[in-house]
Amino acid sequence: MRHMFLGGIVLAGIFGLGSVARAQDAAGGERVFRSQCSICHSPRPDRNIIGPSLFSVVGRHSGMVPGFHYSVANRSSGLVWDPATLDRYLGAPNKVVPGTLMTYPGLKDPHQRADLIAYLATLR
Ligand code: HEC
Repeated sequence: MRHMFLGGIVLAGIFGLGSVARAQDAAGGERVFRSQCSICHSPRPDRNIIGPSLFSVVGRHSGMVPGFHYSVANRSSGLVWDPATLDRYLGAPNKVVPGTLMTYPGLKDPHQRADLIAYLATLR
């Protein structure tokens, strides 16, 4: 019993509990992305569908994807898509960017939003 407990500590030390948790979040976030976002957004660079590519979106200024015709509201929002801003935006897009062309009502579950943003951060 005692050495199983110690073994657990050693394993946690090798893999790093934090990175295991983040990997799971991003995997869950990919599922959220597929069901909620991929109909309009591609995770691949230079691939715009109804919405702009979300490749390397985390940390990017709003309205920067070449060849995508943004609304004035999105282009001139002055926002930087850092995790905190994405969290607010994805919860209620039309409140954070009034007049956005993104006709998505918002992802209400904060855990799903956190997973989704962890996934978006892997797109680079
Ligand atoms: C019905 C289609 C649609 C869905 C679903 C959708 N979006 Fe969008 N999204 C858009 C459009 C269109 C724009 C451009 C908005 C504009 O120009 O006003 C946009 C813009 C964005 C932007 C700003 C990009 C930039 O370069 O400034 C982000 C970030 C974003 N969407 C993330 C998401 C995420 C994450 C999801 C899934 C939860 C999602 N969107 C779901 C259509 C959609």
